[in-house]
Amino acid sequence: MPNVTNQKIVIIGGSSGIGLETARQLLALGNQVVIASRSAEKLEQAVASLGPGAEFRQVDMMKEEQVQQLFDSIGAFDHLVVSAAETSGGPFLQTDTAAARRLFDNKFWGQYLAVKYGVPHLSAGGSVTLFSGVVAYKAMVGSSVLGAVNSAVSSLGQTLALELAPIRVNVVSPGIIDTPSRSGMQEEARNQFYESVAAKLPVKRVGTAEDVAKGVLYLIGNGFVTGTVLHVEGGHILA
Ligand SMILES: NC(=O)c1ccc[n+]([C@@H]2O[C@H](COP(=O)([O-])OP(=O)(O)OC[C@H]3O[C@@H](n4cnc5c(N)ncnc54)[C@H](OP(=O)(O)O)[C@@H]3O)[C@@H](O)[C@H]2O)c1
Repeated sequence: MPNVTNQKIVIIGGSSGIGLETARQLLALGNQVVIASRSAEKLEQAVASLGPGAEFRQVDMMKEEQVQQLFDSIGAFDHLVVSAAETSGGPFLQTDTAAARRLFDNKFWGQYLAVKYGVPHLSAGGSVTLFSGVVAYKAMVGSSVLGAVNSAVSSLGQTLALELAPIRVNVVSPGIIDTPSRSGMQEEARNQFYESVAAKLPVKRVGTAEDVAKGVLYLIGNGFVTGTVLHVEGGHILA
């Protein structure tokens, strides 16, 4: 278990999925967490499920002023995790340009703004953990724009590890993970998708939020790791 305790961690995207599970694991180790996202309802439910040590802030990370205000209201903290994203896919030629741009606005520019306004408040031994994804490393039909967004995040993280040092900056690249991010899919279609992915993977299952949160805790806790992309994907790139 990594040595992360008595730290204050801000998780943008902490109201759901991997971010929420990361908050849970950090609280269990005696840390303080601030989770942030857009929906007050999701945030209230998440904080109630997390219990003592957790607080929340409402923010749309696509809005620069809101991101700045978020960090001004939090003040000093130790580690930043940005798991927030709203993603979509579809055939390249049929995808509206506005939808493609929105993907960048959300997952790339959101993380960019979080780093820009969060880092000045980080403590000296602090770290940043950003989120990429497997489609940057394994091309998948229907994921051209998301793949490009994820590649951009990985590249941003590696350059920032040099530029923002001694703050450590790392990137997590999850594979296919069973989280509420696919709650919009019909249950049957979702299960079929997970089964077809699982059958191809060396580990023969899709991932859980717990799998990826363990990776985040490793990146926060290991002071000798910076500029890395941690793949938590069950061997997907090889499959
Ligand atoms: N699940 C997978 O299979 C998978 C695969 C590869 C990569 N990833 C990446 O892993 C990360 C976590 O994914 P997840 O599966 O845990 O997703 P999730 O369960 O859908 O959670 C996403 C979180 O982001 C928040 N969010 C979305 N847009 C936001 C915005 N503009 N401002 C602030 N918060 C925003 C959502 O809350 P609100 O709605 O309240 O804003 C929610 O808390 C993402 O970067 C995702 O792309 C996931």
